[in-house]
Amino acid sequence: MKIILPSSTAPLRRLSRMLKGKAYSEARFFIILDENTYQHCLAPLVAQVEPLQMSELIEVPAGEAGKEPAIAAQVWESLCESGADRHSVIVNLGGGCVSDLGGFVAAAFKRGVRHINIPTTLVGMADAAIGGKTALNIGGFKNQAGFFHQPDIVCIDPEFLQTLPPDELTDGVFEMLKTFLIAGSDLYGPLCDSMLGVNPTLPPDMIAACAEIKNAVVKADPYDLGTRHILNFGHTFGHAIEAFSLQQGTPLSHGRAVGIGMAAALALSVGKLGLNAAIAERYREVAARLTPMPHYSLADSENILRFMRQDKKNAAGEIRCVLLKEPGAPVIDLAIDENEIRQALLRL
Ligand code: GLY
Repeated sequence: MKIILPSSTAPLRRLSRMLKGKAYSEARFFIILDENTYQHCLAPLVAQVEPLQMSELIEVPAGEAGKEPAIAAQVWESLCESGADRHSVIVNLGGGCVSDLGGFVAAAFKRGVRHINIPTTLVGMADAAIGGKTALNIGGFKNQAGFFHQPDIVCIDPEFLQTLPPDELTDGVFEMLKTFLIAGSDLYGPLCDSMLGVNPTLPPDMIAACAEIKNAVVKADPYDLGTRHILNFGHTFGHAIEAFSLQQGTPLSHGRAVGIGMAAALALSVGKLGLNAAIAERYREVAARLTPMPHYSLADSENILRFMRQDKKNAAGEIRCVLLKEPGAPVIDLAIDENEIRQALLRL
């Protein structure tokens, strides 16, 4: 897997050069995109990446609606009708939902064809496009079917972020905070400072550093058998908070729910692993700037606990979480007592 990061040469120009190389001489390109990336991202892409100018386009529904088995089947039919073969290359132009679907389609088509991820959202650039996880939703449950299928190339061009409403960046910022915290990166502090400032900014170098950390974690454990679990920091709480918010009729985006989940996980880390309380407090301050922090009642916390009991990372009837001993020192698969979870939720 090659990763093209922002630097002095435009990432899309570098992608163009790669696609003119021998490895792609027999390739036909199929771009999977949604209505948003069709409208805002396709023109700049093909203007800079000449080999993609003759690509065939396959439009899919935006968001989670695109991650349905019926949509994957439609894409395979389009590929067959267009005579796609084993040299064909799927180019995913979009956020995490497009790369989850397009990666899945590529993993199964003709028993596996190459794919290229061109993330257009911050979550995609910082996390979803990197690592080879592909997924479909089944029966209303997220990511129930999937393959590990590494993209051939991930091309990160922060210029695409200009096409997004600023509010959309928040989910990605939480993902970056998580990555910098678990890795103990020097960039965690500057990112917090920037988010607490009057004009928050996201320098391309910071996005590139986050993508590199994610890539290194994946390389060490591509099939998510152990150390890659550190990327789930905040997610056991986050998934349950997301499901609870949906049940309450006030849905939170996945990224915001994980952002709130990280505040709970950090509070728990103080009591359980001796994390410096100032780190948890500072994070809470930043998170509260990015999204309103909820105040849960005892009944709410019971409800959230019910969702946490269903988390697929649990084992032996215990709720398992990733907590943080200190920045750069996450502890995976830690069994957590339900009372500790209640306390962390009530203290949010
Ligand atoms: N997004 C978590 C992972 O790639 O493992």
